[in-house]
Amino acid sequence: MCGIVAYIGSKPALPILMNGLKRLEYRGYDSAGFSVLNSDNGKLETVKTAGKIKALENKAKEINAAGALGISHTRWATHGGPTDINAHPHLSADGKIAVVHNGVVENYAAVKKILEAEGVKFTSDTDTEVIAHWISRFYKGDLNEAVLEALQSLEGTFGLAVICQNEPDVLIGARRGSPLALGICENETFLTSDTSAVIEHTQKIVYLEDNDVVSIRRNGFTVQNIKGQPVSREMQRIEGDLEMAQKGDFPHFMLKEIFEQPEALRNCTRGRLILEEGNAKLAGLDNSLKELRSIDRIIITACGTSYYAAMVGECLIEEWAGIPVEVEYASEFRYRNPIIGTNTLVFTVSQSGETADTLAALKEAKQKGATVLSICNVVGSTIARASDGGVYLHAGAEIGIASTKAFTAQVVVLSMIALLLGRQRRLSHENGIEIANAIDSLPCLVEQTLKLSDDILAIAKSYYKSTNFLYLGRHYHYPVAMEGALKLKEISYIHAEGYPAAEIKHGPIALIDENMPVVIVAPKDALFNKVVSNARSIKSHGGKLIVVTTANCSPIDEFADHIIRIPSTNTALMPVIASVPLQLLAYHIAVLRGNDVDTPRNLTKSVMVE
Ligand code: AGP
Repeated sequence: MCGIVAYIGSKPALPILMNGLKRLEYRGYDSAGFSVLNSDNGKLETVKTAGKIKALENKAKEINAAGALGISHTRWATHGGPTDINAHPHLSADGKIAVVHNGVVENYAAVKKILEAEGVKFTSDTDTEVIAHWISRFYKGDLNEAVLEALQSLEGTFGLAVICQNEPDVLIGARRGSPLALGICENETFLTSDTSAVIEHTQKIVYLEDNDVVSIRRNGFTVQNIKGQPVSREMQRIEGDLEMAQKGDFPHFMLKEIFEQPEALRNCTRGRLILEEGNAKLAGLDNSLKELRSIDRIIITACGTSYYAAMVGECLIEEWAGIPVEVEYASEFRYRNPIIGTNTLVFTVSQSGETADTLAALKEAKQKGATVLSICNVVGSTIARASDGGVYLHAGAEIGIASTKAFTAQVVVLSMIALLLGRQRRLSHENGIEIANAIDSLPCLVEQTLKLSDDILAIAKSYYKSTNFLYLGRHYHYPVAMEGALKLKEISYIHAEGYPAAEIKHGPIALIDENMPVVIVAPKDALFNKVVSNARSIKSHGGKLIVVTTANCSPIDEFADHIIRIPSTNTALMPVIASVPLQLLAYHIAVLRGNDVDTPRNLTKSVMVE
């Protein structure tokens, strides 16, 4: 997804912008560019290109871009294809104002018409070019004023960084519906859509709110709302350090993040389990404890992997707390006119905290008067800040586009919420102690499971050329199967479907033949014997069976093609363990196919468009 890095200070801007853009590569992009104010001739130097940052770096060698003020961007095409011309920055017709933009200008066609009638010639197919010309139209020597005036009539979403060659000491930022934050250092300031671009320089961050316009100078900044009235925004310290954003000895971020899961889960549960009371203490829910006692229905809304974590959460909350739960795709929820009763609590789940559909679902729920709590990984993200409370994952930065450690941490957070709700209702002290201890031991069990990586690589070698995969599971493991299939699709580009195991006899069994690998998630639980029957019927139709199980010496050993034996814990917490081999299987298959697993085609890390 598009990313912004801008700089004003006393150091050469270009290397800072390039480094920042590289830190944003994980988000996915198809073109990149920058404008730097050349301190030798006082002109804007703009370079942009389709393709990777490396190509931009090569192109940048051809120009002299010395200067301590600049804006840069990675673009993921929305309006207009991924070409050099459509890449950002976009310039005003006189070349004096440069703009980078995340988001979508919804009324760009109408604005473009006005500008064309006034004689402006457009060079790109983007909505962003409209912004550059529109600001220029209002420019009378004060960039801040021009941006404020221009934004009055622009509809849609934006994170903006704007510079003007007539004002070498000013960088303007603006935000509506697309994140933007300042990174503060002495005598220099960064403006970015993603704080991971600036953590190597500073941990002092000021998050902008919707409709903020910031005017940054070398010695400070001022924030106004869109009406030009001053507003104050607090500085915060962000978590994380540079090491977290680097691969270390791992060939890919995804593998690093899979192997980081024990540590991520330890951080996620640290200080939150009260083992002797058999309960969880989640600071972000402290203010809502009374309200939580009186809820009689829960809606959890999310997208993609977070949606599958929510599905596991549904099983956990219903099982332990006895509260009815509905899980909804946020993209559907936002337009469905959902019924939210006075005792209905809404949760959103989002790793990034920036997913547009999830944010819109949150706003819709709040509009209807619901209390909305959120489960996010990125501290200070838009969804986290727009919620009434919630729980952070503390899983550390997740860079790989395919979510792994965030998924297991989401399930663990949901399990702690289910424990807390359960202890307010039907879970006894003894039940609570058993569950709290089981949650506490998950990091060790994940550690053991990761030792299976080489065995899973051997299985991957047998199937990496397959064109279809089926993933099956029941109850807690139906969402695990769905998530396993999603992981494979995302990074290997193999078609895969996740299905409830017993349902395949109602249709999908017709797909089974010797070319169809079927991954069955079948821990030894109450449904194990039934899943064994499902597996037997797949085998009898010639399917290749890869079974993930805790069972030793069960009938399944006799007919499965491959067994992945995982450690066992409380049945309801098994999804945390069982999803790890599926992550590894997808990873190894994708690598064997020669794919770029960290930035798979057509995908971005946070989907900030509808
Ligand atoms: C996960 O592997 C995906 N890349 C994607 O489905 C993701 O989970 C989804 O876009 C939701 O993102 P969020 O958790 O940041 O809201």
